[in-house]
Amino acid sequence: MKKDIIRKFAAVAACFTVCAGTSCGKVERPDDKENVTVSGNDSATADASATTADGSSENQSELLTIPVTTDENTSQAATSAGTEELPVSGQPSEEASSQTTAGTTTASQVSDISLTFYDVTLTVGGSKMPIVTMSPETAENKKEIWTSSDEKIATVDSLGNIKAVGEGKCTITVKSADNPAVSASVAVTVKAAPEEAVADGVTYIQGILIANKTYALPASYNPGGLTNECYSAFMNLVSGAAADNINIYCSSGFRSYETQRQIYNEYVAKDGQAKADTYSARAGHSEHQTGLAIDCNIIDDSFTGTPEAIWLENNCHKYGFIVRYPKGKDHITGYKYEPWHIRYIGVEKATAVYNSGLCLEEYLGITSQYTY
Ligand code: DAL
Ligand code: ZN
Repeated sequence: MKKDIIRKFAAVAACFTVCAGTSCGKVERPDDKENVTVSGNDSATADASATTADGSSENQSELLTIPVTTDENTSQAATSAGTEELPVSGQPSEEASSQTTAGTTTASQVSDISLTFYDVTLTVGGSKMPIVTMSPETAENKKEIWTSSDEKIATVDSLGNIKAVGEGKCTITVKSADNPAVSASVAVTVKAAPEEAVADGVTYIQGILIANKTYALPASYNPGGLTNECYSAFMNLVSGAAADNINIYCSSGFRSYETQRQIYNEYVAKDGQAKADTYSARAGHSEHQTGLAIDCNIIDDSFTGTPEAIWLENNCHKYGFIVRYPKGKDHITGYKYEPWHIRYIGVEKATAVYNSGLCLEEYLGITSQYTY
């Protein structure tokens, strides 16, 4: 029966012979060196994408967790010979939902507050802290006063660390102690903590098997190839694409823990660990080990913007897949944009994720970060 399936697949995907050799078929061939050839393709990807997948996003993410240093020692209120009416300062971001208002100030008083973000979605137990900038730089007292509109939903400490407590929405506000008329706010949405289940060392969030930088698979986890469900969904996708005159084929499917270990180590040797971590998963952290992920067509940045990539982005959810590492989400997924990497999660869930416009981590309210 499997061969029948393979023949059918070959009819619609001209490259299937290659795919079978690179473990896109149901059963992996661990000794098949073509797995390593696939890694060479990924290397090319990394090189080509250096300008779009640098570490800036991750660095920015780290910055958001740096405690804000307030000028606690400056308690003297600013005085000046006269006052001036300052205009409301411009918002640092067009999407800012905050109000930054300025009242009557003296020259050395705080007249504006800007934040590194103005809205945030957290899950219960999660936390995040904006970096505060008070202007003018010469203001003598930059002490911050933080308050929450509803401490049942989110609390905030004296440094601005926002902690999610219960489901709902509230507003976190920071005021200048020096000039309380000046403030900025963060709209906070708190969602329920994700439903999590662990079975034999494998984590499922809301029923979806997770392999990312936070959640690892045991080395022994080995479905032996693409799962039947994923494989047959992919064949339907290939047929659907062909009906639209789009040729989708599998370039890399299942990869065992050991195969991934070898591939990742090659990339580290070539590019260094920091860069390798932006495009290749460490052993145990790759979705390819789940048997639920497929790299389609060309595994490098030349695939971006092609009719095939656009078709996948707009249609793969109809067959139960999501583009797993979307553009602009690398600081959340942990990986640079990969328009070729699709992940099977079932039609209903894939459609919900697609309609949300979120990446899977955002949709589920989970992280993707190594702890080692
Ligand atoms: N390229 C993806 C992140 C992997 O190595 O699984
Ligand atoms: Zn992939």
